[in-house]
Amino acid sequence: ATPRHLMSIADLTPSEFTSLVRNAAARKQTVKAGRTPTSLSTSLSGQTIAMMFSKRSTRTRVSTEAAVVMLGGHPMFLGKDDIQLGVNESLYDTSLVISSMTSCMVARVGPHSDVANLAEHSSVPVINALSDDFHPLQTIADFLTIHEAFPSSSKTGLGLNGLKVAWVGDSNNVLFDLAIGCVKAGVDISVASPKGYGIPDRMRQLITSSANGVDSPGRLAETTVPEEAIRGADILVTDTWISMGQESEKQKRLKAFEGYQITNSLAKRGGAKEGWKFMHCLPRHPEEVADEVFYSPRSLVFPEAENRLWAAVAALEGFVVNKGKL
Ligand code: CP
Ligand code: NVA
Repeated sequence: ATPRHLMSIADLTPSEFTSLVRNAAARKQTVKAGRTPTSLSTSLSGQTIAMMFSKRSTRTRVSTEAAVVMLGGHPMFLGKDDIQLGVNESLYDTSLVISSMTSCMVARVGPHSDVANLAEHSSVPVINALSDDFHPLQTIADFLTIHEAFPSSSKTGLGLNGLKVAWVGDSNNVLFDLAIGCVKAGVDISVASPKGYGIPDRMRQLITSSANGVDSPGRLAETTVPEEAIRGADILVTDTWISMGQESEKQKRLKAFEGYQITNSLAKRGGAKEGWKFMHCLPRHPEEVADEVFYSPRSLVFPEAENRLWAAVAALEGFVVNKGKL
């Protein structure tokens, strides 16, 4: 049978997405309470998870390695100078070879087609650990963070309907999966990016079509005015203005994004909700968010980073242990 892969949150039904987030929350609770069941800690025993990273990483690498160990498996980190990932050997050959010896490939790449190619030819599940288009593990952690910050009594869904997220900054990989997650979870998302840095048409289509089959999907709004996006928002989110691979555009981007830094006065001018929270996937640079917000009690960034571990546990259990039956 062809394995099931995690390329993007777009691959998940709303209820599968909810389950991944709820499973992450449940694992966090049990393990933190010191009640790790043996079934959990042995579920990957004797199995190797290949981690093929062509870009730097702190959170994704540490959370994935730690999660594999928590499940009793062996994480094998293969950095860009270790293996021939798309350099000196085709992705087709690499995929066939590595998937013949491991139980899963977790891959961080540049062009999304690289991870999609690995998946297409792999005999084991492939998990996207960030591509230029998507970052699904981040979105699972982000929704776990939102779920914790805005608890609901719902026993089945996430109970987040009616919340509003404001994204102020670049339209990038982290935004695209977050927006798809918002639409599926009934959370409105308003995006403010400078002209020329908005959501590309094909992504807008994917985000809005994620509403298909959802009872009350979240709505997407787009603007170039940060204040407009922020109005009535419960959560303000941003990410770096210069993603990995865009280093040569640094000066141009710093200029284009002037006025987009998240500060207390921007939140006030825009009219965010009184108890607004702040999120950022990290790594953070001071230009996109001021210290007064980033290190304030409103900021969820460190729990959000820790939640990457629980997201990785849930994704590995869902895609590797349970073979995609979420
Ligand atoms: N948020 C995130 O993916 O961080 P790393 O790039 O450090 O893995
Ligand atoms: N948008 C950033 C996210 C890093 C986790 C990047 O792609 O570099």
